[in-house]
Amino acid sequence: MNILSPSILSADFTVLGEQIAEVDRAGARYIHIDVMDGIFVPSISYGMPVIKSIRKATQRVFDVHLMITDPIRYIEDFAEVGADIITFHLEAAPDVQAVIDKIHSLGKKAGLSIKPGTEVKELEPFLDKVDMILVMTVEPGFGGQSFIPESISRIREVRKMLVEKNLSTDVEVDGGIYTENVNAVLEAGANVIVSGSGVFKGNPKENVKKFLEILETE
Ligand code: DX5
Ligand code: ZN
Repeated sequence: MNILSPSILSADFTVLGEQIAEVDRAGARYIHIDVMDGIFVPSISYGMPVIKSIRKATQRVFDVHLMITDPIRYIEDFAEVGADIITFHLEAAPDVQAVIDKIHSLGKKAGLSIKPGTEVKELEPFLDKVDMILVMTVEPGFGGQSFIPESISRIREVRKMLVEKNLSTDVEVDGGIYTENVNAVLEAGANVIVSGSGVFKGNPKENVKKFLEILETE
């Protein structure tokens, strides 16, 4: 199934709860929440208290994308404040399997992400261990960047590796995705679509509807 995961990084934080409720009502199944620590990525976003607070705004799946160094330190905290899927970066974890195990031990889904410069093959040992693979389609750290065209072949490669192992694992894409280019990532094999600017710039309700028209006909 194709799923839209609006990234609240581009939302209007003065009315964050309302914006989340709006994309929920419009049909977005996930809410993508980017956590940045200023070390793994240059910027700092938000963390546990914000997630705890917005948990009251929706029952939708909280798709938490950790862009933090040594993520195992914080898995319990994010599980506690209401994360449903916890995705972390392969590049940030000294022991990837230990982080996956920690997430699963708390009853949450585990996602594993790679930056645009990381070889897709590095995912190989973990493909049958995780619930979702996140292929970054921009350098993580900021919203509003342009989609990196080379990502298409990387998405295709990840989907091919999964199919060869008979796995139907979700493949998420994140960065620079709009209704204008979403078809290309779907065609390459992605099925969980993150969009920040593409949803929250302009009219979020209309933007979600336009995305869903495409996602649901694919
Ligand atoms: C970037 C974040 C993204 C970001 C995407 O580091 O992981 O989730 O919010 O924003 P857009 O869709 O604007 O590129
Ligand atoms: Zn993200």
